[in-house]
Amino acid sequence: MRKSRPRLLVLGTIAAVVGCAAATTNVRPPLEARLGAGSKTGAPVPLRFDPTAKVVITRYANLAPAPYTAAQAARGEQVYNSTCGACHQSEKFVGKEFVDNWGDRRIGDFYQLVRQTMPVDNPGSLKDQQYLDVTAYILKANHATATTDSLSADTTIMRGRKIGVHP
Ligand code: HEC
Repeated sequence: MRKSRPRLLVLGTIAAVVGCAAATTNVRPPLEARLGAGSKTGAPVPLRFDPTAKVVITRYANLAPAPYTAAQAARGEQVYNSTCGACHQSEKFVGKEFVDNWGDRRIGDFYQLVRQTMPVDNPGSLKDQQYLDVTAYILKANHATATTDSLSADTTIMRGRKIGVHP
């Protein structure tokens, strides 16, 4: 557990008391990436993240879940295994903690965050399609139902759908 947890609770309580209408803003804790057994060795990775930094992204509980196809998620799993898994333990992307932190966020907020900041040693180095696919894989890993529509970077999806996963 991070030492900053009590502060998050305080902020969460304030947000709950203030209580906005359709969208509430909560402080989301970071994912605590660290090197795992499969991490590549080589040049040190410059970590520009402040470990105490908190990112605020609004919640949109009333949006419909984002679409993705099974084929997309399968491609995304390859991206995850070959890139993201080197630094991220999959538990951080799958399960209750992820669902609590991300389930009601817009899909576009997650996609843009990953696309602009990941992989941390070479942000933006993947193709847009790979960022979409890896996002689809994370939806699948969190038991979202696959659809016939793909996850695309269309504004209607990016801004109009939430991650919408459940444990
Ligand atoms: C070279 C190591 C590395 C790789 C590869 C990497 N990440 Fe990260 N990632 C990090 C670090 C370090 C952080 C910051 C963690 C923290 O602050 O706790 C991070 C944070 C994140 C966050 C949270 C950002 C936030 O503001 O809370 C997401 C989401 C994420 N990574 C997704 C991905 C995805 C998806 C991939 C694969 C495309 C990936 N990462 C590849 C190191 C990496």
